Amino acid sequence: MVKVAPSILNANFLELGKVIDLLNLSEADYIHLDIMDGHFVDNLSFGPEIIKQVRKVTKKTLDAHLMISHPEKYIEVFAAAGCDIITVHCEISHPVQDILQQIKQAGCKVGVSLKPSTPAVDLEPLYEMIDQVLVMTVDPGFGGQAFIKEQLSKIAEIHSEIKRRNLAIDIEVDGGINLATARETVACGADVLVAGSFIFSAPDPLAQISELKKIC
Ligand code: DX5
Ligand code: ZN
Repeated sequence: MVKVAPSILNANFLELGKVIDLLNLSEADYIHLDIMDGHFVDNLSFGPEIIKQVRKVTKKTLDAHLMISHPEKYIEVFAAAGCDIITVHCEISHPVQDILQQIKQAGCKVGVSLKPSTPAVDLEPLYEMIDQVLVMTVDPGFGGQAFIKEQLSKIAEIHSEIKRRNLAIDIEVDGGINLATARETVACGADVLVAGSFIFSAPDPLAQISELKKIC
């Protein structure tokens, strides 16, 4: 069954507690946490102190997506804050294998993410080290952007490589996900759907999550 990971990036932070209470009642599998440093991407979001507070009020899997230039400095901090999965971008300057190892040593599931312009072949040296591949279907930085259709073939390519290697790696898709684009990504092999605006801009977020869960 497909997993759903609501992104709280554009949730109402004055009411974050209520947002998490709502997600606790929902069929969401993960809570997706978009961490931005204003350097790797042109936006700033929140950090580990907020995650610590979220951890206190939910048992959902906390899925951190680090859009930061130097994740190697912060892996232990995010793990201690209560993240279950930590995903870093493969486009950073620090050797990504070292950071993937660091995530594992910190006791978290290991994810690696690709920007839309990064080809699937860049994952070749990383497959044996990861639990999750996060395929960005918009340029990272902001919620509410349009899905980039050209990423579908990349999702299919990664899916067949995972099967060929007989590995248990989830493909997570992130950016511009709605019912139509979610169906297309699942048809190409996506296992986890991140959605921000589709869920939180709607009058009934729980109904949106249920609709995504029905996709197969
Ligand atoms: C973008 C983030 C996404 C984003 C998703 O950099 O990684 O998680 O918030 O938002 P929507 O679903 O609105 O594209
Ligand atoms: Zn994200």
